Amino acid sequence: MITDKTKSQTFSLTTPLYYVNDVPHMGSAYTTMVADVIARFQRLKGSTVLFITGTDEHGQKIQRTAADKGLDPQQHCDKVVAGFEDLWQKLNIQYDRFSRTTNQRHEAIVKEFFQRVYDNDDIYLAQQRGWYCVPCEEFKEKRELQEDGCCPLHPNKKAEWRDEENYFFRLSKYQEDLETLYEEHYEFIQPETRRNEILKFVSQGLQDFSISRVNVNWGFPIPVDANHTIYVWFDALLGYVTALLDSDQEPTLENALSQWWPINLHLIGKDILRFHAVYWPAMLMSAKLPLPEKIFGHGFLTKDGQKMGKSLGNTVDPLDLVNRYGSDAVRYYFLKEIECGRDGDFNETRFVNVLNADLANDLGNLLSRTLGMTQKYCKGIIPRAANLPLDHPLKTTGQDLGIKVTQAYESIKFNQVCEEIFSLIQASNKFIDEQAPWSLFKQGKQKEVETILAAVLESVRLSAYLLSPIIPNLSNKIYQQLGLSVDFNDGDHVRQNVPFAQHSQWGKIEVSQTLTKSQPIFVRLNLPEEEST
Ligand code: MSP
Repeated sequence: MITDKTKSQTFSLTTPLYYVNDVPHMGSAYTTMVADVIARFQRLKGSTVLFITGTDEHGQKIQRTAADKGLDPQQHCDKVVAGFEDLWQKLNIQYDRFSRTTNQRHEAIVKEFFQRVYDNDDIYLAQQRGWYCVPCEEFKEKRELQEDGCCPLHPNKKAEWRDEENYFFRLSKYQEDLETLYEEHYEFIQPETRRNEILKFVSQGLQDFSISRVNVNWGFPIPVDANHTIYVWFDALLGYVTALLDSDQEPTLENALSQWWPINLHLIGKDILRFHAVYWPAMLMSAKLPLPEKIFGHGFLTKDGQKMGKSLGNTVDPLDLVNRYGSDAVRYYFLKEIECGRDGDFNETRFVNVLNADLANDLGNLLSRTLGMTQKYCKGIIPRAANLPLDHPLKTTGQDLGIKVTQAYESIKFNQVCEEIFSLIQASNKFIDEQAPWSLFKQGKQKEVETILAAVLESVRLSAYLLSPIIPNLSNKIYQQLGLSVDFNDGDHVRQNVPFAQHSQWGKIEVSQTLTKSQPIFVRLNLPEEEST
């Protein structure tokens, strides 16, 4: 059952807990940026947010990776985790909790949960025979494998045959309950294409799945049988629950679930949808716990139109990208260019072109030329946009913008967020060109000049405010150049002191300060080959 508890003004969300077999890849960075934008938008609206990310550290894949490197698994995990934390900091990700499945308190939560499911008679011992893909940490049907015995997601790692005793979870028992859940809570799986995938999968009939391993010691022992360790996915999903504990709380399910559960949104990639939309709710039903509100499965990234992966040697390194171009640039490209939910492409030429066109030209130039004119024609004092006609072009576009953008943010349509905001920015550029305040100034029409500049500056301010979840550093610079002191990187300050009801509306902020000298907010980017010539 989905709980009725209404959690007004609070919002909890998670990224997947990433495997630590390697340094973070662009896929993990993408999910995390999306989650960060959602978290920041919620804070902007005034919600108290709990944003959880973290790492999935047990299982055969990690055990083998550590062994190949001659490292103790924990040492290996600690090293990789430091890389994740560093990347999140560089990408300006403001998470509240970092959940590591090797955390000691996590074991207590996993054991207690296992016991609840076991006591509900949903766990039994049986023989597991089948093909196991270690990189996926998942058994595959023969028909899901390619002719060469590899799964399509990992074309250079053959699935391995297993024939061993495992403990199983009675997933089949929850078939009907899951179908009712999907029917009664239409929004549980988003977007619609993913929902359809799951409905089809479930309608084919659910099979029990094994939740223990006998030859993997890098994991928690099964409470009822020390010869087995808990299957990495059973353990990892519960990492979302452990993350809810405050640092001084006893690690019990009751404590963990007392404040933030149920999670409002699990944000994941499409490859791990079944675990979240089928296995996870069934596990929670078995433990008689409320279910999360929504699972959103985004698409996959490609590079220059091709599948991104180590075997093709065409991965995009997010750390390299952020080091070369900065966090706002990386965030803006992936949020604007990809329709979240669909697959999307990374191409470096396009990356540079999009950023130069949108941030350097349309937005940056608009601000600097308007501020320049304000210095020149208005003694550097921002004029007021008083008594504008009802059909003023910027006012009419600006007035609805907050509502439209809110809807787009809330339905995880960030490309639409950017489009809506840039329609105001482009309209402002056009407006200035058409109105030509420089010639009005020469004609001595001071009042008209002031009204034009005031309307454009207000449009830039509103755009910066609404873009702040995506490009917080640029929004800070714009607000500062407009003489407003706001730090969009300080979530508490924003939540408490920058009321959404005013700042998200056109014409509600009093701006009449003396300006300081303006600086370019976004320096044009060069393509790597242009730099070396
Ligand atoms: N450890 C599990 C998650 C457990 S959650 C309780 C896992 N980790 S992962 O590191 O392999 O994947 C993390 C995320 O990266 C997934 O959401 C996956 O969809 C995403 N991506 C992996 N490759 C990707 C792309 N090429 N493009 C976009 N996202 C992709 O699965």
